[in-house]
Amino acid sequence: MKAKYDFSGKSALVIGGTTGIGRAAALAFAEAGANLFVAGLGAAEGQDLKDEINKRFPAVAIEFAEVDVRSEDGVRSLHEAAYKRFGRIDTAFNNAGVPGKTAPIHELSQADYDLIMDVNLRGIFFGMKHQIPHMLEQGGGTIVNTSSLFGVMGYATTATYCASKWGVIGLTNSAALEVAKKNIRINAIAPGSTMTPLLTRMFGGEQEAKDTVLPFLPMGRIADPSEIARLVLFLASDESSFITGQAIVIDGGGFVAGADKI
Ligand SMILES: NC(=O)c1ccc[n+]([C@@H]2O[C@H](COP(=O)([O-])OP(=O)(O)OC[C@H]3O[C@@H](n4cnc5c(N)ncnc54)[C@H](O)[C@@H]3O)[C@@H](O)[C@H]2O)c1
Repeated sequence: MKAKYDFSGKSALVIGGTTGIGRAAALAFAEAGANLFVAGLGAAEGQDLKDEINKRFPAVAIEFAEVDVRSEDGVRSLHEAAYKRFGRIDTAFNNAGVPGKTAPIHELSQADYDLIMDVNLRGIFFGMKHQIPHMLEQGGGTIVNTSSLFGVMGYATTATYCASKWGVIGLTNSAALEVAKKNIRINAIAPGSTMTPLLTRMFGGEQEAKDTVLPFLPMGRIADPSEIARLVLFLASDESSFITGQAIVIDGGGFVAGADKI
């Protein structure tokens, strides 16, 4: 990706940055010059990301911490470590998410429901809860939360995933209004199908994912994570200075073509 943004001298926190969209966003922030604090599950993937950034962008500082967003203590410690390391967090990308079990609602257990809600929704609540006070104190910042195309539509067999992602937009809208006069902007991204481990897990494999989603994609292809990362950087940067409280759908035209009418 060609860097169009200048985050030099700034610090970005990416939660859920070990693989997929979060990893692509971390690389894009590094390319744009931001110092990075990355969290997520997977120590090996975290180390791999650190190695790649150290090699490709040696001027950028990167820290990684394995943190489970279901634990508020873990999320609190992560933020304390990030503030201690860089002094400030200019932008935070709350991106951790799981596909959960894909099945009709009557086949889901309470544990299935809890996993989805705890990671996809409560994790974002914890993130903003520990980011906003710091941004208020430092006089501003930007937050980007990951919702989904499934945050603006329903889809059979993904009811709880959809509910969690609709919830992310509700949190985003409301929190954005709470800090709108404080130089803090909060937006959500709502990606359509993007080729990542999550998508293949959701549909049981890469080919199965393609067979399921390609018929509904007007552009005839699944997004590359780097394409989603560009929207994250736009919303995190001053280029989007008058945008707050929005959920931006980035789906190659699926929604306007009627993906929600399937
Ligand atoms: N891939 C898609 O088609 C698609 C579409 C719309 C939205 N999304 C959303 O994008 C986000 C990123 O997903 P992805 O597709 O890149 O998949 P991915 O599986 O590659 O990435 C998920 C990230 O979340 C982290 N994570 C998962 N559970 C966690 C936990 N309990 N605590 C901390 N971190 C945790 C993982 O470590 C990883 O870094 C998710 O929120 C997902 O719901 C993905």
